[in-house]
Amino acid sequence: MGLFILPMGIFEWIRTKAAGDQSKPALQRIPQHVAIIMDGNGRWAQHRGLPRSAGHRAGLDRVRDAVEFCAANGVKYLTLFAFSTENWRRPTEEVEYLMKLFEEALKKEIAKLHENGIRIRFIGLREEVSPSLQQLMTESERLTKNNQTLVLNIAINYGGRSELVTAARRIAEKALQGELQPQQITEEQISKHLFTAGQPDPDLLIKPGGELRISNFLIWQMAYTEFYFSELMWPDFKNDELYKAFRDYSQRKRRFGKVKGE
Ligand code: IPE
Ligand code: IPE
Ligand code: MG
Repeated sequence: MGLFILPMGIFEWIRTKAAGDQSKPALQRIPQHVAIIMDGNGRWAQHRGLPRSAGHRAGLDRVRDAVEFCAANGVKYLTLFAFSTENWRRPTEEVEYLMKLFEEALKKEIAKLHENGIRIRFIGLREEVSPSLQQLMTESERLTKNNQTLVLNIAINYGGRSELVTAARRIAEKALQGELQPQQITEEQISKHLFTAGQPDPDLLIKPGGELRISNFLIWQMAYTEFYFSELMWPDFKNDELYKAFRDYSQRKRRFGKVKGE
């Protein structure tokens, strides 16, 4: 008798365990745009008695996994928070290490990303990063600009508030030139002046690292995003965890203010 009342979840679990990743039940609904705050690298390393830099390097493997997972599951936009406008407040040594790591990773991965149809874009104030990194950013965007599988936005020197300030300045310029009347400043107009112009807002935000905050990430764009927080540190956030986040998302009721959820 007891057997009959076992929750379906158990069968699903056994099936998944027995046959590995392939047998995971298909996801009902795939987010079109996924945003990830890749947090917890430093603590991951410290828990192991390693320097924080080792955590940043370990986090890179998860970037590769996330891009593959999202591309394989039909996600169209993936936005990764790599360095915030506030992260300049860290020790110079750590900031320099991160910047070098971005350059190294980009040089190493760009050909493979291109081969796999990934279009790479950078969001944030790029004028403030080193000229060599800026050059790599521009070259990778140019190389991959016609790719269609997945748009990969990497947020470097990105802050949601600084993005809104930049947008406000651009809009004010247009108003001064007489190209735009105050009544024409709509929500759509503001969206059009953000770094993510032309892209849909994130459907799902994933934040490992155990903390419940968004750290100035995509503050305008995430007005109706579904949040998924995890206690795991980013270097431990393997594809099984991404799958869990996606499964959780697919069970959410998104109402957008209406009575009935979608
Ligand atoms: C996120 O990991 C990576 C960056 C901010 C560049 P952290 O470096 O913030 O790791 P914790 O939060 O200190 O563990
Ligand atoms: C957010 O992480 C920025 C990135 C992951 C790049 P932080 O570790 O900088 O965020 P806070 O300061 O703890 O909120
Ligand atoms: Mg952190």
